[in-house]
Amino acid sequence: MTVRDILILPDKRLRLESKPVAKIDAAVRQLVEDMFETMYEAPGIGLAAIQIGEPKRIVTMDLAKKDEPRAPQVFINPELVSTSCDKNTHEEGCLSIPEYYEEVERPARVKVRYIDLDGQPHETEAEGLLATCLQHEIDHLNGVLFIDHISKLKRDRVIKKFAKAAKLGKQPGNRAAE
Ligand code: NI
Repeated sequence: MTVRDILILPDKRLRLESKPVAKIDAAVRQLVEDMFETMYEAPGIGLAAIQIGEPKRIVTMDLAKKDEPRAPQVFINPELVSTSCDKNTHEEGCLSIPEYYEEVERPARVKVRYIDLDGQPHETEAEGLLATCLQHEIDHLNGVLFIDHISKLKRDRVIKKFAKAAKLGKQPGNRAAE
């Protein structure tokens, strides 16, 4: 397993639309292992493959609390089947936009269809943190970032800050720069 570099805003690859996984082979399993290694090391609770530069529709997640055993989850080709009309607001962050947090309003409950690492199809209903994370990560697969859901004023401000940092070669929150 390898810890991979995480793409940071304003890396253009974060805006790519990821392609569905056609076949779960050794390369996909290797990628999933690298994603978990990278996500745990960051540390983060969710990661989309594009965040390590792989435009494939794969999401890894672990919502276990610090004192709980690890609970890794993999979602391959995840799709939102339906979303509730009622909304929920959660403070979100993103490993590709380090140390920036903002409240985002999204549907409170979602129904998601995906396949697991054995190729088995699943359909699940989610609420709370899982619903938020699934929507955040599925957004990544479509080239959408959580800052696209906040006000233009706030979004422009954070994009400007990260563009400036990238120009100076210092990404905010990047370990190498600390
Ligand atoms: Ni993210």
